[in-house]
Amino acid sequence: MTTQISVIVPTYNEAANIAPLYDGLERALAGRPWELVVVDDDSPDGTAQAVLALAERHANVRCLQRVQERGLCSAVHWGVQAAHGELVVVMDGDLQHDAALVPQMVEALEAGSDIVSASRFLAGQEVRGLPTARRRRLSSYGNRLTNLLLGRALSDPLTGFFATSRRLFLATLPRLQADGFKIFFDLAYHNRQATIRELPFEFASRRHGQSKLQLYVLWLLACDIAAKLSGGVLPPRLISFVGVGLIGSIFHFSVLYSSMALGAVFWVGQAIATVVAMVFNFSINNVLTYSDDQLRGAAFYKGLLLYGLIASLGIVANVSTAHITYERLQGHTFIAACTGLVIDVIWRFAVSNRLIWGRASILWKPRW
Ligand code: GDD
Ligand code: MN
Repeated sequence: MTTQISVIVPTYNEAANIAPLYDGLERALAGRPWELVVVDDDSPDGTAQAVLALAERHANVRCLQRVQERGLCSAVHWGVQAAHGELVVVMDGDLQHDAALVPQMVEALEAGSDIVSASRFLAGQEVRGLPTARRRRLSSYGNRLTNLLLGRALSDPLTGFFATSRRLFLATLPRLQADGFKIFFDLAYHNRQATIRELPFEFASRRHGQSKLQLYVLWLLACDIAAKLSGGVLPPRLISFVGVGLIGSIFHFSVLYSSMALGAVFWVGQAIATVVAMVFNFSINNVLTYSDDQLRGAAFYKGLLLYGLIASLGIVANVSTAHITYERLQGHTFIAACTGLVIDVIWRFAVSNRLIWGRASILWKPRW
């Protein structure tokens, strides 16, 4: 009997694309046992209903409708954990990934490759799905940075279209970032000895809906790389959060000095700078760190208020901790101040990550 293939598709607002996606796969995989596992994050456009309707007609379709969880990487993790097939193929649900390539990917796995990736940039490929020169340039910077870390020369290390064995994926899963950034990069990073075969494909333009990944991708890539260099101890979003905070503190000092130059007394200048920096941090984190969960309209202002509250409590924790440290260490100002800041930033991140941007636990479970 041939190996069963599980095609894992993460979706967010792809209702209109589900049926054509299935048809493409059915044509490509005719004669082989396969299944489609769609992992949908409770899309408001009714993607899950579209999948369920499809599942009534086809026994090889399943839908994981996640109500409390969010995120592309963790959706793929869930899909692989639910997969029945020995081979898993991960692809987007927006028809940008060509289902016709799947049989070749499977054959390459059967021929002995550990991982097969579909590349947009292998020689001779014209990239229709990356419309502007700027987007193409960004993409090439990203690739170079990623390859440096992987110690390989992949033509498309940030692809979202790849295949491997369920066994290999599950064996790597404990080390993958749950709230991660690029799933293939993560997998390749933790399998640096694995053989990876790249196959060319033509990245189609999006047919329905909107692409969710933009310029902030380079920033998140840098944070992701820093997270990997920390051995996975620091999650990428925490690094992004701290990065934004550092830029915010430059902002803080500029406002403080300029308001004092304009005649404000110190405490007034400091108060203005604190509020300005807080609004800055919140807004920038909202578009950069949480670009995929960005708050808009009324939700933005509610979030800002809550952030103010969380930050105020953080200041209390900061000052108390710094004070205790200062007393214990008999006047080591610098160390005491740093301790307070670390507590403050972790508190602020952990609480707002969860309460404001609705992200699940940032921690992975260690395996002793
Ligand atoms: N479950 C779930 N949760 N699915 C999501 C989420 C989410 O939070 N965000 C996006 N998706 C789904 C989309 O519905 C789509 O099926 C797929 O993930 C990719 O999202 P797009 O918004 O289409 O991303 P893209 O086209 O900009 O980027 C794709 O191509 C890049 C280059 O190959 C992705 O595959 C990237 O991972 C890839 O790097
Ligand atoms: Mn897409």
